[in-house]
Parts: sequence; structure tokens; C-alpha cells
Amino acid sequence: MRYVSADQLIPGMVLGQEIHDSSGVMLVQKGAQLTRENITHILYHGMPGVYIDDELSKDIQIKEAVKPEVKEEAVLIVHEFFDRLEGVIDLPPDEKLVQLMVENVVRDILSNDDVVYNLIDIRTYDNYTYCHSVHVGIISAIIGVKMNLSDEELTDLVTAAFLHDVGKVYISPELLNAPRRLTPEERDEMMQHPWVGYKHLCAEFSFSENVNLTVLQHHEWYNGKGYPNKVKGDELLLTSRILRAADVYDAMTTKRPYHDPYLPSEVMEYIMGRSGMEFDPAVVDVMASQMAIYPVGCEVILSNNRHAIVVANNSGFIMRPTVKLVDTGEILNLRSSRESYNITIAKLLM
Ligand SMILES: [Fe+2]
Repeated sequence: MRYVSADQLIPGMVLGQEIHDSSGVMLVQKGAQLTRENITHILYHGMPGVYIDDELSKDIQIKEAVKPEVKEEAVLIVHEFFDRLEGVIDLPPDEKLVQLMVENVVRDILSNDDVVYNLIDIRTYDNYTYCHSVHVGIISAIIGVKMNLSDEELTDLVTAAFLHDVGKVYISPELLNAPRRLTPEERDEMMQHPWVGYKHLCAEFSFSENVNLTVLQHHEWYNGKGYPNKVKGDELLLTSRILRAADVYDAMTTKRPYHDPYLPSEVMEYIMGRSGMEFDPAVVDVMASQMAIYPVGCEVILSNNRHAIVVANNSGFIMRPTVKLVDTGEILNLRSSRESYNITIAKLLM
């Protein structure tokens, strides 16, 4: 399989994965040949790209950190939790369902033996908040596993990630989605959301105190310049420091009303540049060695102008993956092969 961005899709390409809309309805089956209508649909739903199968990429396997069906169910459950909270559904929010879903996500991540994680997310964007919450949970758990968190800490971390923006339920949608700079008063109101979310979780639910505190601290900075309480360094829970970085990583790699998605490599550079300032250096170190900035299945242009597909990542050396040349099919391990030591990746095509 390989990843092809939506604007490069051509009728007749064979889909390597099922495509669903945000409510879980299947739009196109795996193995189907794409029609012009399918491509219009994919573009209409704002999907950044899809995996396709072809001769060149038939031996490339894409393994996601969490099974797609687990992720989809998590999005639906988080969505329903928020809908019940906002009164869109006339039932009390069900925290047991959220806890069950968190356990499924943590189990999937713990059973995944991949050393470097592939995090291209093929999703539609019309329910950003819920997809974002679940994806932040997955990224947080991946970092948490690498930092040897206990099962209990991992569960707290993913629960907090799923609910981290719960305080935004009390902020008007016009303010939340404003495609402009906020006024100082509006920004103050927005900055209340960790505190409002924390108070609400404490009052209405029986999540652990660590979950509630992680939600409260998810906009605090490592250097104490965040909000709402300007807590810093090790006084912040490790789960909060991980959630901060995962939240930023996912928000920046996703298309939003006010920005196009940044490449994983650009986001990692941003996060590394703010290590010790916004982000805990220990968290940044783990991300910088374990998150795939050249995800498997993506096309790249090498510094010698050859066109290649990433076939594997090398743990600890995320800048030096193993690639397959498009014209000859030759495999080059940029980490270890002698012929490739002076070849770099010039461009990621996404
Ligand atoms: Fe937030």
C-alpha cells in the first residue's frame, strides 16, 4: 500500500483501505477501483489522502497504532459523551462507556510491537473535536508507553486526552471556530476552558483525580508560562506534559479553518524548537526518536532527485528510513547502507 494525496488520485486506482464518513458509514470498499465520483466524494469530505494498492507498493504493509474500527468506535463514543453533556441527546453522559473505550485503545497500543509509529490519519474533518480528542489519546498513549508509564497512568492519560477540551462545551461555537484573531476578552474567555472542564469533571463524574488534574493542566507550559495556573516543570503531572505535546502535534498536522496541515517533520521541528519552553524535554526526546516523520507508504524525493516510497522506519533514526526506489524497485536503507550515506530526503510528498 502507499499513501496518495487526494489531489493526486486518478480513476482506476485500487483502494487499499475502506473509507468511511465521520458517522462511520462506508463510502468506498477496500479493493474497489476508484471512480471519478468516488474521488469527488473524497475531496468533498475533506480527506487529505488515501492508501492505494498497486504493483509497486504491494509488499508495503501499513500498520496503524490502533485498529481503525477501535478508533472509529472511540470517536463515536466521545462524540456521544459530548452530545449528552450539551443536551443534544437527552440522556446523562455515560462515563463507563468512555472508560471501556479507553481500555480498548490502551490494549491495542500495548499489543503493537512497532518500534516507530505511523501516524498518518485518514479522516474526514467535519467532526474535528471528537477525532482530535481520540487522536490526541492515541498519540499520548504512544508517548506514554515509551516513557514506561504504568497501565493505570496510561489509562488516566488516555481518558484525560479524550476529555481534555470538555470545558469548551461552555464556550460559544462562534468563538470556538472564529477564523480570525480573538479579541483580548475573547481570548480570556477561551482560556477558561481547562478550569471550567476540571470543575465540571470533579462535580459530575467519578474519574480519578489524576484525570481531572491532567485536564486542568493541559495548557500549562513546562517553563510556567502557560495557563490557567502557571504551574511549571516537575510540578506538572507527567501525563499533563505528555498531553500538551500530543495536543499540539495533532492540532498542527490537521487541517483547520485557519491553517492547512503542516507536515509531520515541520511539526516535530516546531516541537523540538520549544523543548524546555512549552514542552518537557524528556517528552520531546521520545517524540523525536519514535514518531515517524516520514510515515511508511509515503512518497519522497531524495537529494539525488530519485523518487522513492518509505517502506520502514528505523527506531531512533526517524530522519533515515528505508525506502524503495520507484523506477527500479531497489531498496535503500538510509540508516545503514554504505551507498546511501550521503543521500538525504529532500521532500515528503503529502
Ligand atoms: Fe484545550
